[in-house]
Amino acid sequence: MSIHYEVISDDNIICIKDLCNELMSYQKSKAYIHPEWFDNMCFETRLIPSVKSAKANFFIIAKDDNEIVGYAYSNICPKHTYSGGFATLDPVDFFDFDSVKCRDVGCFSQFYIKESYRKTGIGTVLFKECMDWLNSFKLINDLFIFVSNGNDNALKFYQNKGFKVSHQILDRFITVLRNT
Ligand SMILES: CC(C)(COP(=O)(O)OP(=O)(O)OC[C@H]1O[C@@H](n2cnc3c(N)ncnc32)[C@H](O)[C@@H]1OP(=O)(O)O)[C@@H](O)C(=O)NCCC(=O)NCCS
Repeated sequence: MSIHYEVISDDNIICIKDLCNELMSYQKSKAYIHPEWFDNMCFETRLIPSVKSAKANFFIIAKDDNEIVGYAYSNICPKHTYSGGFATLDPVDFFDFDSVKCRDVGCFSQFYIKESYRKTGIGTVLFKECMDWLNSFKLINDLFIFVSNGNDNALKFYQNKGFKVSHQILDRFITVLRNT
């Protein structure tokens, strides 16, 4: 195994399409609340719109020789981007907008490592690179991670990295974690 890391531009994200779709399937497999909401979530419906609506995007991939084995995606968005809903639920604010002083927030948005490469430290490297990028925006203090229900491993990973559970939204479909 010879892992190296590359930052990729927004124009090249097609290379992570398959991993993004694997992430959606993984999250569905873990979910016990509304797993069917993942049915229409994929690269085209989740990642592309997110990239387009963000003010800045950061993608980093892990490669074993030429094979992409994982990626992480972070972005900076206006806080009011985080108002929405799913299925039959009324739109909700993903967090209390008044609790965020700045107009923009940072989000650690997508994260996936192929199964056979997990628990070897690759995720920790990708996470740190994303945090360094998010923290380089000196005026943005509020960072968020949204974890779908049932994904307890990811929740534990983020808590071990210092994020705290804030609250749940969308019928407990999503747990919101914050850095503060
Ligand atoms: C969450 C995820 C990205 C983490 O990636 P990873 O490469 O496994 O992360 P790491 O190897 O750096 O760390 C994972 C755990 O293994 C441990 N670990 C790291 N290197 C290790 C090693 N050499 N030996 C044993 N354990 C090790 C870490 O301490 C960490 O423990 P923790 O979760 O209790 O903090 C990965 O598990 C994954 O892709 N999961 C499926 C998709 C997913 O849930 N994505 C998140 C959506 S919100």
